[in-house]
Amino acid sequence: MDKLYPVLLVLAALILLYILWCFVEPFFLDMDEAALKKSSNKDNNKNIKIKKLPMKSKDTKEAPDFCFFFFSDVHAEWCPVNARRLCDAIRKSHAAGHLDAVIFGGDIITSPSKAETGYKYINTVSACCKELGIPFYGISGNHDVRLTDAPGNAGFTALDNKTITITSESSGKSAVLAGIPDSGKHNRVWYQMPPIDSQDPVILIVHDPDAFIHLDPSSRPDFMLSGHLHGGQMKFPFKIEFTVLRKTDKLPNMGAVQGTYDINGTQVFISRGLGCGILPFRFLSVPEATLTKIHLK
Ligand SMILES: [Fe+2]
Repeated sequence: MDKLYPVLLVLAALILLYILWCFVEPFFLDMDEAALKKSSNKDNNKNIKIKKLPMKSKDTKEAPDFCFFFFSDVHAEWCPVNARRLCDAIRKSHAAGHLDAVIFGGDIITSPSKAETGYKYINTVSACCKELGIPFYGISGNHDVRLTDAPGNAGFTALDNKTITITSESSGKSAVLAGIPDSGKHNRVWYQMPPIDSQDPVILIVHDPDAFIHLDPSSRPDFMLSGHLHGGQMKFPFKIEFTVLRKTDKLPNMGAVQGTYDINGTQVFISRGLGCGILPFRFLSVPEATLTKIHLK
């Protein structure tokens, strides 16, 4: 029994350290960069083929056509990365190189009773964008569908079921920014792309990356930016966070969890998001906001 005590003590210390780290990690902010270059190999095959890409591709040394500041999954009830810190990151990114837009990938809150906290957060970002003269777009997440007029109250231009043509200040090329809203998890509906009457490359903003699987293959976009998965939020051995806890999420169980991917020729970025859904913990999934550089050619 005497030999067991030190083992139990070490075990208890490790568990304590683990819990402490889970609580501390949400306070960090990883301001990273993702470069996506349009692929000429889009395929309309129904079978999903996923290829992991480096965040900064070797082929993207030339100036990008668009620079977007992308953030997602605020869940303002427990988001230690407050709006002021996020605005500082937006200001820094804009000062380092022109931002074409700030884009929010959905999930303002977890619980509708905290709507005001969420609106206050996103409105602070909106005011910052106005001050800098940057357009601020957003999409509905699965938690936002229980709110009334979330975009209007939060101060961003909604891309839900909409398309906007944007023109690059640096190259003069244009692209279509398109949005698909989330229906929420109860009585889930997977919506299709909004009608697009243009030959320009399409950049889809959608909260849940699984939406890609349900698109008519002929309408797949050239680029897709999304969130929802929180990078698993708390990583466990054998990817239990997805294989057991989120087994209905298809793409992460096929290998696309966070970062950049080529999925059937569509260049995809999946953000880990900023806040915490349900439990106020993160483990090996640091909150992130991303300077997303789009190369149309
Ligand atoms: Fe979320």
